Amino acid sequence: MMKQKYLPLLLILLVAAIATGAFLWRLGDQKVATIVPSPTDIEPQVAVGGPFSLVDQHGKAVNDLDYRGKYMMVFFGFTYCPDVCPTTLSVMDAVFEKLGAQADKVVPIFITIDPMRDTPEELKNYLDAFGPRFVGLTGTDAQITAAAKAYRVYYKKHDVQGGDYTFDHSSIIYLMGSDGKFLTNYSLDQGPDFIAADLAKRLKS
Ligand code: NI
Repeated sequence: MMKQKYLPLLLILLVAAIATGAFLWRLGDQKVATIVPSPTDIEPQVAVGGPFSLVDQHGKAVNDLDYRGKYMMVFFGFTYCPDVCPTTLSVMDAVFEKLGAQADKVVPIFITIDPMRDTPEELKNYLDAFGPRFVGLTGTDAQITAAAKAYRVYYKKHDVQGGDYTFDHSSIIYLMGSDGKFLTNYSLDQGPDFIAADLAKRLKS
């Protein structure tokens, strides 16, 4: 008899508990959705980029001021990279094909994270395969470290069998304005159509 008396109350509590749980569950989802940044969501006010002093694929000493007045599309990688770097450079080249005459307003810049192997000559041979537009930059360890730090690029060297090494690295394409300031960033999976359309819009305004 006692149990039957409390049954409606228990049911009400159970329903309330389920409703609260569902509410918290959804709230949790929303929080996660707002906290995790998408690859295209780096806040413009976070300082990305800045001065660099490096050497191009022709052996000429250059710095970021040499590219003022043009947009810079900056990508960090290394010529021994088996997949992500060559794919990214191909996508960047496809973007420039799609831009047509507007492409002249943008310099695609590939900065190596592997200055030990990526000499200017090595960079030149490598980049020639991706068309004539690319600027390839290398430098001393300290110069590369400083440039990567300025662009908040993550990379980590790994030893592989046979005394060789490779890198884990972030594969973000940075778009810098003609004043050298960060505008936005692109990722490989956005594809050349999207990137070219976004870039064309920015170049017009
Ligand atoms: Ni790579």
